[in-house]
Amino acid sequence: MKLQNQTLIITGATSGMGKAIAIELANEGANLILSGRDQKRGNALMAELLDKGQVSKFLPGDVGDIEYNKQLVDLALATFGGLDGVVTNAGMLGLAPVTSLDPYIWDRTFRTNVDAVFFLLKYALPEMLKRPSASVVGNASIAAFKSFPNHPAYCASKAALVALAKQVAVDYGPKVRINAICPGPVDTPFIHDSAIAFPDPVKAVENAGKATLLKRLGEPEDIAKLVLFLVSDDASWITGSAFTIDGGILAGG
Ligand SMILES: NC(=O)c1ccc[n+]([C@@H]2O[C@H](COP(=O)([O-])OP(=O)(O)OC[C@H]3O[C@@H](n4cnc5c(N)ncnc54)[C@H](OP(=O)(O)O)[C@@H]3O)[C@@H](O)[C@H]2O)c1
Repeated sequence: MKLQNQTLIITGATSGMGKAIAIELANEGANLILSGRDQKRGNALMAELLDKGQVSKFLPGDVGDIEYNKQLVDLALATFGGLDGVVTNAGMLGLAPVTSLDPYIWDRTFRTNVDAVFFLLKYALPEMLKRPSASVVGNASIAAFKSFPNHPAYCASKAALVALAKQVAVDYGPKVRINAICPGPVDTPFIHDSAIAFPDPVKAVENAGKATLLKRLGEPEDIAKLVLFLVSDDASWITGSAFTIDGGILAGG
């Protein structure tokens, strides 16, 4: 088991990629602190992991709340005695071109996608520095590199996450590895919600899959496997990098 006796926090664990990541890491023996807002889905995931013999704790809250991020770290210490890794995965999408984008939505997007990562790392890094090999994986998006209509806040926030991962890797290099992942279209509630901006949302999601070189949407499990690799010692010489996992869209899809 690759993550035996290791403790990690996963944000956005109640759905989509975060849930798949939680299952993948728990299968490798990780102790998990699960974050999300939906108590029911959080409890259901805790129960599912317990069925596999893996103890985890779910703490409901908003990642945009700095105090909540401190509580996540405190819970890891109180429950498992330390912290080895963080997967910052929670994210939101506010769709509108700049001229009609509500400044509140701009702020909210940055608060959830970027500020929240700063808040969690602020409290998590001092604990992770005490561990022999610690790792952070941030879920960005191909939107960090490729622009999409009506996505100014989202694209800018995801580009900020890639820059943040590279910068934190510089300051904490010898002790903590940090990398960003940049998924293309993945079959989660998120992509279906974002498709409502299109005249035919079902067709829009279908087309997103067809636009990849591999002619399908990603599955949350595809992403979870990359995250497992990056948090584990298999990736012990990888830091400050951004990994595209997009079925080939950036290459020419
Ligand atoms: N799906 C895609 O095509 C795609 C592509 C590239 C990147 N991404 C990124 O992948 C990440 C995961 O998205 P997903 O596709 O798996 O979407 P999802 O199934 O909708 O899951 C989003 C998760 O984020 C949590 N979350 C959102 N805002 C939050 C907040 N303010 N406080 C706490 N938790 C919050 C949600 O928790 P609750 O439901 O409990 O509130 C949920 O667990 C996001 O960062 C997204 O930007 C998605």
